[in-house]
Amino acid sequence: MLDSVACSSVPINLSDLSVVLSNNVICRVALGRKCDGRFIGESGGLNDLLREAQQSLGGFCIADFFPWMGWLCKFNGLEARVEKNFKEFDKLYDKLLQEHLDPRRPKPEHEDLVDVLLRLQKDPNREVELSDDSIKSALMDMFIAGTDTSSATLVWTMTELIRNPYAMRRVQEEVRRVSKGKEMVQESDLPQLVYLKSVVKESLRVHPPAPLLVPRETIEDCKIGDYEIPARTRVYISASSISMDPKSWKNPEEFRPERFLHSSIDFSGQHYELIPFGFGRRGCPGMNFSIVLIELALANLLHRYNWELPQGVTREDLDMEEAFGITMHKKTPLFVVASPVQYCAGH
Ligand code: HEM
Repeated sequence: MLDSVACSSVPINLSDLSVVLSNNVICRVALGRKCDGRFIGESGGLNDLLREAQQSLGGFCIADFFPWMGWLCKFNGLEARVEKNFKEFDKLYDKLLQEHLDPRRPKPEHEDLVDVLLRLQKDPNREVELSDDSIKSALMDMFIAGTDTSSATLVWTMTELIRNPYAMRRVQEEVRRVSKGKEMVQESDLPQLVYLKSVVKESLRVHPPAPLLVPRETIEDCKIGDYEIPARTRVYISASSISMDPKSWKNPEEFRPERFLHSSIDFSGQHYELIPFGFGRRGCPGMNFSIVLIELALANLLHRYNWELPQGVTREDLDMEEAFGITMHKKTPLFVVASPVQYCAGH
């Protein structure tokens, strides 16, 4: 990612770059290599398949609200689109499993997730049956739940920093002080980046990527406040309204990372005023993974470059509109200009 920023002589589409970064990171963890066109030749790369999955899953489907009207999805093409995408993914996953099982495959330096799941599948002492379909589902979960959310967070965080020069200066000073003389910020530097962590928290508060979490269903009758909720009711929890509630947050509309500097509130599911990753048994299992990914990417972008808006665009012009979908993206891509900072090791 840093190299493609360095090579660009025109404003950078940070939205696209973030998607490629998070897809690549998840691909390397799950499949042992980056997602590029090599996976499936003529049908396009995994990036294209993921884009299509994210768009069709996030599209409006009337059956989500009125299940008896589900037949309409047959006519508007959504069902066929989802089916086609599913078949392409299934073919790709079959191929990947075969590749991993091929005895001629060179032994990798590190096991990827598919290696681990295939090893568990063969383990005679396994406690849970793992079919090929379960492995494919685990991969799909990671791709769908992990890529879009992480890239959306990175984009919103950079957008807010560009809109708030004081926060930008403060976080850059911190990153550059902590990783002075190094070419790259390392994962081991992250615990010292206290302000940067507050910036990411504040970004998740103001722009939770899954604003309604994931739909849940009550298993028994219950009462919340004055509301009687019968069993088997689909419930949406509005994480975004909660994190903007003036009863819990002073000036909630303001982007102010300082609010977290002397506060114990975090997003791990213990503080219900901030739940971008949900909470409880079905809370996000990828939280720690994505936080490291976001913090590390952000720290390195800030360490290596100064960031400005393209000529003629002012902070006030920045479009903050949110796109409709399962993940709350910035509707228009973020274009920025990067100028390298000349004090890294070797300069
Ligand atoms: C900024 C990044 C992310 C955000 C904001 C986020 C948010 C969420 C939320 C709100 C839920 C639903 C929780 C609930 O209803 O209580 C969820 C579920 C889930 N997330 Fe994430 N997530 C992120 C990154 C990731 C990553 C990187 C992965 C995997 C590598 C991942 C995997 C999952 C899975 C598998 C579930 C479903 C869990 C279940 O239903 O039991 N997420 N996520």
